[in-house]
Amino acid sequence: MTPAPDQLVLRRPDDWHVHLRDDVMLEQVLPATARQFARAIVMPNLRPPVTTVDAAIAYRQRIEAALPQGMAFTPLMTAYLTDDISPDELERGHSEGVFTAAKLYPANATTNSAAGVSDLACISAVLERMQAIDMPLLIHGEVTDPDIDIFDREAVFIERHLIPLRRQFPQLRVVFEHITTEQAAQFVADGDPLMAATITPHHLHINRNAMFQGGLRSDFYCLPVAKRERHRLALRQAATSGNPSFFLGTDSAPHPRAGKESSCGCAGIYNAPYALESYLAVFEEEGALQHFEAFASENGPRFYKLPLNEDTITLERTAQLVPAQLEGEGLVPFHASEVLDWRLAG
Ligand code: DOR
Ligand code: ZN
Repeated sequence: MTPAPDQLVLRRPDDWHVHLRDDVMLEQVLPATARQFARAIVMPNLRPPVTTVDAAIAYRQRIEAALPQGMAFTPLMTAYLTDDISPDELERGHSEGVFTAAKLYPANATTNSAAGVSDLACISAVLERMQAIDMPLLIHGEVTDPDIDIFDREAVFIERHLIPLRRQFPQLRVVFEHITTEQAAQFVADGDPLMAATITPHHLHINRNAMFQGGLRSDFYCLPVAKRERHRLALRQAATSGNPSFFLGTDSAPHPRAGKESSCGCAGIYNAPYALESYLAVFEEEGALQHFEAFASENGPRFYKLPLNEDTITLERTAQLVPAQLEGEGLVPFHASEVLDWRLAG
């Protein structure tokens, strides 16, 4: 058996799904993402959502202005699809290099999604155009039907919406975001090369019990909600399998403390500060270190048809205690009060 390495040098990764927020929160959370990742796909679910080219340019400028001096980081912007967004606006944003992709939130599926799409039929001209110009569609894949059990909403989305959508637009590039079920992992693994999925660190580490351990634990509440253990195991298998259709997307989603600790708490786990260490722990536990670089740094850009990053990062085997709360920000990071075996150097 080869001894476990003490250091890993890999091509700098990208985060293919992150919530950077705006204003003070943007300033607080951006350095954690920029320290690890060269690029990130930035979610558009601001208030108001990013639905126009001008709004995306302005948001991109705010992100660039919030970046600490000396940090290199490229935000990749996304358009928030609404029932009446125009195909021309999307195409213009895409061709001008503003919109890397467009995000489909089923209306009311999650945080700031009220203006999302109420019925896929409303955006068929948009999807037609995206397919024609080869613009990726990013999907929050959950039905919003209150009659469907919350733990089944992703699996039902596949049957009701994703399978028909793939049939209707077979050439559309689709990322099934933050998958949480064995059904989704299977669907993507069986799918064609135009279908991919991101997987978060938290869905690889926790199952639904985490939300109820010793009380109601809002820091483990996110959407799609964590599922049963067998789903977590299926996600770990998918992520570490070496299959190029799966890649890194943290879905880091910070909320102010008062938003998490409330009688109607917000969905979202803030995992940005230790994201790489968190993923790496999973790959090591699964005996799949040889697939880590592809998952973190290669599969994503290849799917998005973007160049691979040329610089590298170093991860060292050094134990680090994750703080219970982050100083100044008051945010509780994923893995709070746990010891992680690896540390990102620098
Ligand atoms: O947990 C989540 N938080 N899931 C989402 O889909 C949205 C995100 C947020 O924006 O807070
Ligand atoms: Zn998200």
